[in-house]
Amino acid sequence: MTEAILLVGGQGTRLRPLTSHIPKPLLPVAGVPFLTHQLARAAAAGITRIVFATSYLAELFAEEFGDGSRLGLELEYVTEEVALGTGGAIRNAAERLRSAPGEPVLVFNGDILSGLDVAALRDSHVASRADVTLHLQRVADPRAFGLVPTDAEGRVRAFLEKPQTPEEITTDQINAGCYVFTRSVIDRIPAGRNVSVERETFPELLASGAHVRGVVDDSYWLDLGTPAAFVQGSADLVRGRVTSPALPGPTGESLVLPGARVHPGAVLSGGTVVGPGAEVGAGAVVDGSVLLTGARVAARASLSASVVGRHAVIGEDSVLDAVVVGDGARVAEGNELPPGLRIACGAFLPAHGVRTSASPAPCTAQAVAHSGVPHASSAAH
Ligand code: GDD
Ligand code: MG
Repeated sequence: MTEAILLVGGQGTRLRPLTSHIPKPLLPVAGVPFLTHQLARAAAAGITRIVFATSYLAELFAEEFGDGSRLGLELEYVTEEVALGTGGAIRNAAERLRSAPGEPVLVFNGDILSGLDVAALRDSHVASRADVTLHLQRVADPRAFGLVPTDAEGRVRAFLEKPQTPEEITTDQINAGCYVFTRSVIDRIPAGRNVSVERETFPELLASGAHVRGVVDDSYWLDLGTPAAFVQGSADLVRGRVTSPALPGPTGESLVLPGARVHPGAVLSGGTVVGPGAEVGAGAVVDGSVLLTGARVAARASLSASVVGRHAVIGEDSVLDAVVVGDGARVAEGNELPPGLRIACGAFLPAHGVRTSASPAPCTAQAVAHSGVPHASSAAH
């Protein structure tokens, strides 16, 4: 198995406003665009050629990774004018594959941080002569995922995407977003229209008696789709709880990138990342957080499990817990912000949260909708 299709066309809605200008897979995680970790792992497992299935902010992927030679990979980019859904994207990208009909092809979601042994998944697929083999994980709360019950031999019995009622939750095994397909099975997905691999392709394969297998693997696994998961994944990489050949420094309590300035009287902990050109002032305490390029945390501010966007500013003595601050936003001194809050790109939060006008900094339509005084948010899930 030398070829893969990478699904990176989603809009990263749950990570707005961070994803207003950067697609989720390119957000910096532990100092490098998130995908770098996954691509390095794929290369280490023997993958040599990857077709990116892009749609949202498509051109940024090629700008970042080019032809892939820097990572020892050959990369190609396919762009959907209108998003085709996960199955449609796989079918569309398959036009560029070179593998023969009987050969295995890796397909993976672009927002998963995992320690999966990809070579073992391939070996299991080949040995069992399956049509598709899915990586499965066990999770405590499977509601945000696809449920995949299997029988004693590992054959998939059903596929239920995003269960709605307690009765539907019949297993704790979920689709972990990484598959080995036998190439000819991809070619059977209808072309030229929106197809969900989870809601349409997998259920249809099961109904037609195809051999679909699930392999449960309990290595590290995280879907970085929410702000909480995003900071967690970054911190876990920095602290070495999951390994990546792409980590740009030694593991430890923090990762301070070149050009960042951290006052000797500041305390960084919990896998915090201080991005290039970012600044942390005297007496500030930053725990398990991500400061993106050029972000500024003033003296005595206290942050935990938060993300500060590019060139955003956190004023002196502010307290942020699980807050997402969009690019270029400013939080004036002395604010205590509650968990789950999201502040739009370019917004200004005055001292003690008294409403004045939002700053005129550039924002996308989505970001404008969130601007002004920050909204209590849906960051909880
Ligand atoms: N090219 C392309 N086109 N890619 C897409 C499209 C599309 O129309 N829609 C989604 N993607 C990409 C996303 O960028 C992401 O990498 C992947 O497909 C999955 O989309 P998400 O939006 O992250 O889905 P999810 O997390 O809600 O659910 C999926 O992943 C779970 C595991 O994390 C499903 O596959 C679930 O079954 C699974 O449990
Ligand atoms: Mg996801």
